[in-house]
Amino acid sequence: MSFISRSALTRRRFLLGAAAAGITVTTRPMAAAGDDPAVPLVLTPAPGKATLGDAGGSETAVWCYNRLVPGPELRIPQGRPVRFAVDNALDEGTTIHWHGIRVPNAMDGVPGLTQPLIEPGTRFVYEFTPPDAGTFWYHPHADSLQQLGRGLAGPLIVEEAEPVFADRDLVWMLQDWRLVADQQIAPGFGRPMDAVMNGHVGNVVTLNGKRSVDQAVTAGERLRVRLINGALARIMALRFEGHRPVIIAVDGQPCEPFEPDGARVVIGPAMRVDIILDMQGDPGQRYAVVDDYYDTLAYELTNFAYSSGQPVRTHPADASIKLPANPIPEPDLGNAQPTDLHLQGGMAGAGALMGLGGLNGVMTPGMDGSAAWAVNGMSMTGDGQAGMTPMATFQRGQSVLLTMRNDTAWSHPMHIHGHSLKVLTRNGASVPHRQFADTVLLAPRDVVTCAFVADNPGDWMLHCHVADHQMAGLMTVFRVT
Ligand code: C2O
Ligand code: CU
Ligand code: CU
Repeated sequence: MSFISRSALTRRRFLLGAAAAGITVTTRPMAAAGDDPAVPLVLTPAPGKATLGDAGGSETAVWCYNRLVPGPELRIPQGRPVRFAVDNALDEGTTIHWHGIRVPNAMDGVPGLTQPLIEPGTRFVYEFTPPDAGTFWYHPHADSLQQLGRGLAGPLIVEEAEPVFADRDLVWMLQDWRLVADQQIAPGFGRPMDAVMNGHVGNVVTLNGKRSVDQAVTAGERLRVRLINGALARIMALRFEGHRPVIIAVDGQPCEPFEPDGARVVIGPAMRVDIILDMQGDPGQRYAVVDDYYDTLAYELTNFAYSSGQPVRTHPADASIKLPANPIPEPDLGNAQPTDLHLQGGMAGAGALMGLGGLNGVMTPGMDGSAAWAVNGMSMTGDGQAGMTPMATFQRGQSVLLTMRNDTAWSHPMHIHGHSLKVLTRNGASVPHRQFADTVLLAPRDVVTCAFVADNPGDWMLHCHVADHQMAGLMTVFRVT
């Protein structure tokens, strides 16, 4: 069991890259990738370079962990303590948030709320025991638009003791970039027009740091693909030409395996979906994977390129694809404390601003970089800060019935920290397949009910994961005592 895959390559590239870029970085050995949890794995966020397009193409100036875009793929066992040291080689403060992992509050990486910023040149050590197996990811929770938008994000896989059978277990970390002509990242994060509308949707999507590179497959094999939407704002809907994906987990949490409507896998920012794909295409053929969430922006994410060899099996494997459950406490619906969240703000469709004049006295929401959004009439802006007043306080162990009402004209992937939500209903209809989630995508006007046991003490964020929306007020905090 190693803490890091690609570690040899990583280290080599890390050192070469650092030398080539002329950047001074700590060259402390990368984690001995051993089984000793006492030795922390070192993550070094720093400016760097990445080739997002064709090999040999132009390089993009990025910010990244350990010289890699995305950051190194971390694989850790369920239920065993791990330590990650963060050596900040950026020119500004940062943190790491372990998105979706039910960590102790002090390890949650929210500046001001759970820890001070990790200042440039300093180290912070995170230490936690992941209770749940599944597909998670890590990213900064500081200057989020810019730090995530320049590339700081990586996959974090917590491995089941007994995974379901697949010939290969692949991670597809998807990132969205707004590039200008010379392949450089467009300047300007947090534009007012992004803030009040869709957020910072880019023009190039990469899969594991590369745009449209074929995925080599063999006929007959079974793949488990862990999709991670690491975009700032782009919602994705993946179609697999000639193939039928079966969803086995959402946000790392196992569900009853099901085929999504229209064979289309919809993933909002920060969400993860694990799928099983039985590669039943023809040897020697190519099959496109298309993201057509925004009909005017459809593009080919990648292609499956089948080798011309014999199929490894003629019929799909018949092994079970149902994952073992995670130890998430079951909410007591008969005794749950109702809590309503109204999501408010943004532009009212195309043009006029919604009547938010009274909201915190903001007359032109978002247009001066201030609040454009609110939860129950309150705008908490930024990445997190000290002294945010909780919108609700729950006794430890209390079941909570959370109703989220999207009173806006925009979609919002609403994300909870420190807990996982059992999604119960959407617009009055019950949600099938027993889905837990830490990030729930709400379409305009959607009403979603969820339940959870508030069992993790501390102050926790609940916010939209479209970074522009979060920064501009679509965020709140609750307390578990
Ligand atoms: Cu993935 Cu509060 O964040
Ligand atoms: Cu999170
Ligand atoms: Cu939003």
